Amino acid sequence: MKIEHVLILVAMELEAKPFVEHLNLEEIADFFPSHMPFVAFSGEHHATKVTVVTLGKDSVYGTGVDNVGTVTASMATELALAKYGGSVDLVLNAGTCGGFKRKGAEIADVFLTTGVANHDRRIPIPGFDAYGIGKLVTMDPTTMAEKLGYKTGICTSGNSLDKTDKDDEIMKNNDASFKDMEAAAVAWVASMNKVPYLGLKVVTDIVDGEFPTQDEFMANLGAAATSLQSALPKVLTYVCDESSNHD
Ligand code: ADE
Repeated sequence: MKIEHVLILVAMELEAKPFVEHLNLEEIADFFPSHMPFVAFSGEHHATKVTVVTLGKDSVYGTGVDNVGTVTASMATELALAKYGGSVDLVLNAGTCGGFKRKGAEIADVFLTTGVANHDRRIPIPGFDAYGIGKLVTMDPTTMAEKLGYKTGICTSGNSLDKTDKDDEIMKNNDASFKDMEAAAVAWVASMNKVPYLGLKVVTDIVDGEFPTQDEFMANLGAAATSLQSALPKVLTYVCDESSNHD
């Protein structure tokens, strides 16, 4: 199927800004219900329609605080897909992540997701336990990653930037190469809508490394956003050209 419209979900404004400016995307007024904080931008990359959604700022905790995590990410994804009424061909979730050095991750690596899972939904009841982990196999990015020089792996999601020992155990069981706060939720909404999902994440911190996550994250956030600005158009071009070749 030819990919003509890509919805790109990026949690934080700082992560999205360089890419939005690079593609000259325009903010769409009144895209979301007025009581929702999410922000939408739209434009084109080559002949592909591109909509970028960010999760906006939290209205209670201050203008500098972005909405992050699974609740807001799933809601924004669903509202955007519903608004477009079936015209979105691919959900691309872009942003930053923590990488596992035991899986070969290094700061500034670009990872494409092979699948997603959760590590903070522990429900020790038969059946519910696997539901909590909620593994999803997503679009196979292997050839694209080889062509573009990116790494691939499973992304494990949870609503915390840091981790507990129990998180560690589950993330290892999930065979995760990197960790974020949105991917599993966005991929689940995409699958409910029968739209393919691809995750593109840049490593800002090493989860099994020696430095505090928050310090590494803040130190590398700007560079990761610049890296997203460069990686996103390449991935868009690749998936859209490939889809045209397989009509
Ligand atoms: N985003 C960037 N680094 C992260 C981490 N270590 N955990 C969750 N989300 C992240």
